[in-house]
Amino acid sequence: GTTLGASAAEKGRYFGTAVAAGKLSNSQYTTILDREFNMITPENEMKWDATEPTQGQFRYTSADQIVSHAQAHGQRMRGHALLWYQQEPGWAQSMSGSALRSAMMNHVSTVAAHYKGKIYAWDVVNEAFADGGGGGRRDSNLQRTGNDWIEVAFKTARAADPGAKLCYNDYNTDGINAKSTGVYNMVKDFKARGVPIDCVGFQSHLGGLPPSDYQANLQRFADLGVEVQITELDISGSNQATAYANVVKACLAVSRCAGITVWGIRDSDSWRTGENPLLFDSNGNKKAAYTSTLNALNGP
Ligand code: G3I
Repeated sequence: GTTLGASAAEKGRYFGTAVAAGKLSNSQYTTILDREFNMITPENEMKWDATEPTQGQFRYTSADQIVSHAQAHGQRMRGHALLWYQQEPGWAQSMSGSALRSAMMNHVSTVAAHYKGKIYAWDVVNEAFADGGGGGRRDSNLQRTGNDWIEVAFKTARAADPGAKLCYNDYNTDGINAKSTGVYNMVKDFKARGVPIDCVGFQSHLGGLPPSDYQANLQRFADLGVEVQITELDISGSNQATAYANVVKACLAVSRCAGITVWGIRDSDSWRTGENPLLFDSNGNKKAAYTSTLNALNGP
């Protein structure tokens, strides 16, 4: 293929990007988006603070703009994210206990129902595990409602949109380490008990080459019977082009790796200011990392 999306599709994968609704009026941005990418994740527009700024009052304007764009251009959608300890609306930040628990699940069921049939995969829960060597859950007001909040969220999302794949998504879980093993054990437990989970997202915000056990880590999750997805890829550093190629090769080597999403289009679109971690420069030109990514997608 001659584009990221077409080349990924030839390998049975997708190639996506995060999109900001406010940039859909920029023709340089949409030209690249619609030429190269066949999966879209809203960068911020589907988060809790954006979709339910006031309790019980849902606002979908910006997210719907992205969904409409995707539908008009034959792109699929990853939904991001139903529950996350960050970007909680202020009203939820000050809640706890059973009141927060019911507000959380009302949020999950209402937003998932609004987008029913339009989402390929939802990040149902984002970043619920702690960094460091403990392998346990991250403290948050969500976690303090009870350790079962994640499985209740997955069951609630399944009921609201049975056709969407339901993912758990996190960072620093890209190699085999205490944090990724904590997630692994949760997924294994969910599969054993019939809690609905279909996929695990590996954000892959990298500072150079992926960990040497990156592919092995993807594979051990795939062996649990879930799809794996690279969900927020961006890479800084001087070996950027090689690092991107290595990520692509790892995904292609794991049959249940469904696709790769980069976290923005041009370097100027990145949340990592000054690090230039994306595939297009700030003028929209293809970088060496673009070419290495495309070549890896087209490889044997
Ligand atoms: O839109 C408001 C604007 O009105 C206001 O004037 C301005 C002042 O701060 O803020 C703007 O909102 C910002 C928003 O991005 C849109 O640009 C928020 O402050 C800012 O916090 C927010 O950052 C986003 C961040 O998630 C929130 O934590 C980034 O764009 C987004 O790339 C980043 O994405 C996360 C993933 O969701 C989860 N994984 C990690 C990843 C990187 O942090």
